[in-house]
Amino acid sequence: MKQSEIIELLKEMTVDEKIGQLVQITGDFFNEESQITGPMENMNLQKEHISKVGSVIGLIGSQKVQELQKDYLENSRLKIPLLFMSDIIHGTNTIFPIPLALSSAFCPELVENVAKYAAKEAYLQGCNITFSPMADLAYDARWGRNMETSGEDTYLSSQLMKAYVKGYQQKDEIGNYKFLSCTKHFAGYGLVQSGRDYNTVDVSKRFLKEFHYPIYESAIKEGTKMMMSAFNTINSIPAVANKELLINDLRQDMDFDGVIISDWGAIKELTNHQVAKDDKEAAKLAIQATTDIDMMTPCYQHNLKKLIEEKQIEEKLLDESVLRILNLKNDLGLFENPYGQINTKEANEFVGCNEIKKLALQAAHKSCVLLKNNNNILPLNKNEKILIVGPLVNTQDLFGSWSIYGQIKDVQTIKEYFESQNENIHFMDYNLINNQIDEISSFDKVIYFGGETQEESGEANSKVDISLDDYQQKTIQKLKSLNKQIIFVNFSGRPMDLVNINLHCESIIQAWFLGTMTAQAIYDILYGNVNPSGKLTMSFPKSVGQCPISYKEFQTGRPVSKAIDNYVSKYIDEDNEPLFSFGEGLTYSNAKIKEVTYKKEQMHENETIDIEIEVENNSDYDCEEIVLLYVNDLVAKVIRPLKELKQFKRINIKAKSFTKLKMTIDKSMLEYYDQNCQLCLDKGDFEILIGLNPKKLNKKIITLK
Ligand code: BGC
Repeated sequence: MKQSEIIELLKEMTVDEKIGQLVQITGDFFNEESQITGPMENMNLQKEHISKVGSVIGLIGSQKVQELQKDYLENSRLKIPLLFMSDIIHGTNTIFPIPLALSSAFCPELVENVAKYAAKEAYLQGCNITFSPMADLAYDARWGRNMETSGEDTYLSSQLMKAYVKGYQQKDEIGNYKFLSCTKHFAGYGLVQSGRDYNTVDVSKRFLKEFHYPIYESAIKEGTKMMMSAFNTINSIPAVANKELLINDLRQDMDFDGVIISDWGAIKELTNHQVAKDDKEAAKLAIQATTDIDMMTPCYQHNLKKLIEEKQIEEKLLDESVLRILNLKNDLGLFENPYGQINTKEANEFVGCNEIKKLALQAAHKSCVLLKNNNNILPLNKNEKILIVGPLVNTQDLFGSWSIYGQIKDVQTIKEYFESQNENIHFMDYNLINNQIDEISSFDKVIYFGGETQEESGEANSKVDISLDDYQQKTIQKLKSLNKQIIFVNFSGRPMDLVNINLHCESIIQAWFLGTMTAQAIYDILYGNVNPSGKLTMSFPKSVGQCPISYKEFQTGRPVSKAIDNYVSKYIDEDNEPLFSFGEGLTYSNAKIKEVTYKKEQMHENETIDIEIEVENNSDYDCEEIVLLYVNDLVAKVIRPLKELKQFKRINIKAKSFTKLKMTIDKSMLEYYDQNCQLCLDKGDFEILIGLNPKKLNKKIITLK
C-alpha cells in the first residue's frame, strides 16, 4: 500500500478500531470457550474487542494461523490483517544453541545465518515478527536470562545484534519471505539488582550511553522495526512509561521511528510499581511515553477511549501509534498477502530439513568452549574404553530455555548418539553410581555430563547459588577419589561456579545448551572430529559473591596491584579474578601469536594505525582462532575500563602453518562519553592489547596526537 492509502485508511477508522490495533493477545482468546471462562474473562474482553485486536502473540502453525486470519478478516470492516508475533529466540522447530552459546563463536556470519533460517521456518508457519534479538548486556551470573543475551561485552553484542537483525529481516536469499525483528528489552534489563529478575535497575545515563545503548542502537541502524521496552525501571520510572527513555533517548537520539511494544503485562504492572493508581492511569502513562502496543493487559482496551473523551490524552497520540502499526503491517506486505507463503509444499519441506540441521550442527560446534584440557586429555581416541555418567546423559531436554516450538522428536540423547558411534563407550546409571565402584575401577577416563537442567535458566530463574548441586559435587569427588581422569561437560544457561569441578577434573567443556544437534556436536568435539573454537562471552566467577563481574573492570583508587597495606579493593576470602574470564577458550592446536607489527605508533584524529598479526599453529590439527583487540585509555576525563574489546577476527589456520591478519585502529575505538554524556576523544596514550587468550596479551602504547 502507498503511504497515502495508509493515511486514508487511518482516517476511516473509528476510535474503537484504532484502539484495537494497539492490543495484543494470545491465540486462545479466539476460541469459543475462552469467552466464558479463561483468558477473556480474566482480561474482561468481549467478543467485539477480540474482533478488532491488532496482533496475536505466540500462535504458530500454518493451518491455525491461516484459519484465524481468514475468520478475522471475514468479520472485519476495514480488513486490516492481524499480525502474528512469537518468541523465536534460538530457532523455531530446529533449535540452535542458546544466544549466549552462539555468542561464544564470535562469529556474526554464523549468527546471521542462524537468524535467517530460524526466520524462514517461522515465516512458513505464519509468524511475521520475532521478539528477538535480545540486546541486553549481562554480567551477573545469578540472572536467569543471561542465556538469552550475547554476554558481557558491548562491542561483541553490537556486532551480533546487527547480524541477528540482518538475518531475520533478510529477503530473497533463501526464498522470498518477509519477516521482521523486535529488539528487546529497552533498556538495561541485564542490570537488575542482585541478579533478581524484574528487579529495580539504577544506572547512570553515562553508563547507559557508553555500554548499553550502543547495542540497541546497532539493531536500530540495521533496521529493526520494533522495540520492546524492559520490565525494569530506569531512573526510578518503569521503562514502559518512561518518557525520557522512550521518547528522548530511543525515538529522538537514536532516531527510532518503529513500533514500541510493552513487555508481557508491563502496562498493568505500573500499578504494582505504585506509579499508577489504576489501569486507566497506567494506560495514560504508557501511551504518553509512546508505547504503541499493550501486550496482554486490558489497560489500553478499556481506558484509551475514556482518556480521549475526558481530554486527558490527545487522539493524536493514538493516531501516531496506529500509523506506526499500520506501517509495520504494510512493511510486511500483509495488506496484499495476509497469509504469506504458509501451507505450501515448500513450507512443509523446509521446516526441520537437513539443510537447517546442518547449520544447527555447525553452530553447536562453534559454540562449545573448551575451558581446560590438562595433558591434552582431549581429543579422545576411539579405541579408548570410556565410561559416561551424569544427570544429562539420558535426556532429550537439551534445547535450553525459550525453545517453545522445538521438536523434541528430533533430539537424540547423549546416550543414544554416543552408543551409535562407538562401542568402547559404556554407560552407568547415574543414581546407582555409588554401588558400582568395582565396575568403575575398570575405566581410566570418565566423561561426566552435568551442570544445570534447561529449566534452571531463562525468565524468572534467577539463583543465589550458581554451583553444582550436592549430589553432582559428591559424585565428582567420588570419581576423583577412585583416581579417574574426569572430562566434565557442563550444561548451563549462565556462568556457574566451577571451582570444585576445576579442582577435580582434567578437562572442562562448557556446552551451554546447544539445541537439536547437541549430542553429535559434543561427540565431534570430544573425539576430535571438530576442533573446539568458542571463547567465553561471560566470565565465570570463583564464587557467587563476586557477582556481578565482568572483564571490563575499572581501576579503583586502591588497586590490589599497588597494594602497600591491607586497605585495597579486594575480598578477604577470595581474589578478584574470575575463574574463567571473558575471552578464554582453548583449541586442540594451542596456536600462538608469533608477531605483532605496528605500522606506526602515533596517529592524528583523522588517521588510522594498521597492525599486522602473525598467528602460528604448530599442531597437527587445523584450527579456527579468535584474535581479540582491546584498548585501555591511559588517562581520560572519566574512569575507563582497564581493557575494552574494540575488534575481533575469527581466522582459520591449517595444521603446521601460520596466517597473517590485519587489524586497524581508528578514532571510533578511542572515543568515549564524558561526564556530560558527550562523545569525546582525548589526545594522549592508549594501551593496545592483542591476543588469543586474555591471560597472554601483546601490549603496546600508541599515541593520539
Ligand atoms: C518476556 C519477553 C517475551 C514476552 C513474550 C516476556 O515475559 O520478558 O522477552 O518476548 O514475554 O513472550
